[in-house]
Amino acid sequence: MIRDSNLKIKPFLKWAGGKFRLLERILPLLPPGKCLIEPYVGSGAVFLNSHYNRYILNDVNPDLINLYTIVQSRPAHYIAQAKSFFHSKYNTEKQYYALRERFNQSQDPEERSALFLYLNRHGYNGLCRYNKKGLFNVPFGRYQKPYFPAEEIMAFAEKAKRVRFVCQDFQEVMKKATVGSVIYCDPPYVPLSHTAYFTQYCQTDFGTREQTRLADLAKHLRTRGITTIISNHDTQFTRELYREASISHFEHSRVISCNANKRQKARELIARFAG
Ligand SMILES: C[S@@+](CC[C@H](N)C(=O)[O-])C[C@H]1O[C@@H](n2cnc3c(N)ncnc32)[C@H](O)[C@@H]1O
Repeated sequence: MIRDSNLKIKPFLKWAGGKFRLLERILPLLPPGKCLIEPYVGSGAVFLNSHYNRYILNDVNPDLINLYTIVQSRPAHYIAQAKSFFHSKYNTEKQYYALRERFNQSQDPEERSALFLYLNRHGYNGLCRYNKKGLFNVPFGRYQKPYFPAEEIMAFAEKAKRVRFVCQDFQEVMKKATVGSVIYCDPPYVPLSHTAYFTQYCQTDFGTREQTRLADLAKHLRTRGITTIISNHDTQFTRELYREASISHFEHSRVISCNANKRQKARELIARFAG
């Protein structure tokens, strides 16, 4: 099923922090424009369900952008290749670790893109995590029969005809925005609390400095007539960070630790720096 009862298009990747379940909150806040820029595209839930003539979709993860450019240019070929790994013989712990190793050793963009989807659907909670050497290190997920999202890939490819994919740091993409562009930012969220668990298992390079860099950029772009919308947790820090923006607050049930069983309500916000 690629669409739910409200006719939303589902991303074909599982993605931590994916915005599919928050589209009703986000889409009404996006103003019209000639181009939507997403500096942190992830699985692309907002892109897939918004209506702009053009898109610039960026993410710092090269495997993700490699996959998207391949799906964009040859979706049917990609589906055939990626589907070959969705066979029960590959859904064992032994095969998972063998294919994970093959992915980590591979330099071939096509092979990497096919295995990336396999790892996304067979790995633990659809996590995407690399060690310090840049090797994918998510453990086996133990799913009965992982779903192969053929329809979702085709829907993505259809919509991707209007897209330029980029793999850079968010700042590089945002500073090139021109008047008439709208920017939707979904950065890694600031932590709700700094418990030992969080810092130990969810290390991220996206710290206070990056959050501040993003807010400063949004303020600067506003002076150039460009609107930036940012999603984040609702904390004292983010309220201060976005104090010059108009803010919508709400509660959302999401995974807040790296343990997917630990769902709880978290306060989120959407900040709008109107240009
Ligand atoms: C919360 S996820 C985005 C989820 C997305 N909105 C969705 O619906 O799936 C954050 C994304 O930011 C990307 N990211 C992290 N640091 C970044 C940076 N410095 N520049 C650009 N992207 C970055 C991550 O790779 C990740 O895909």
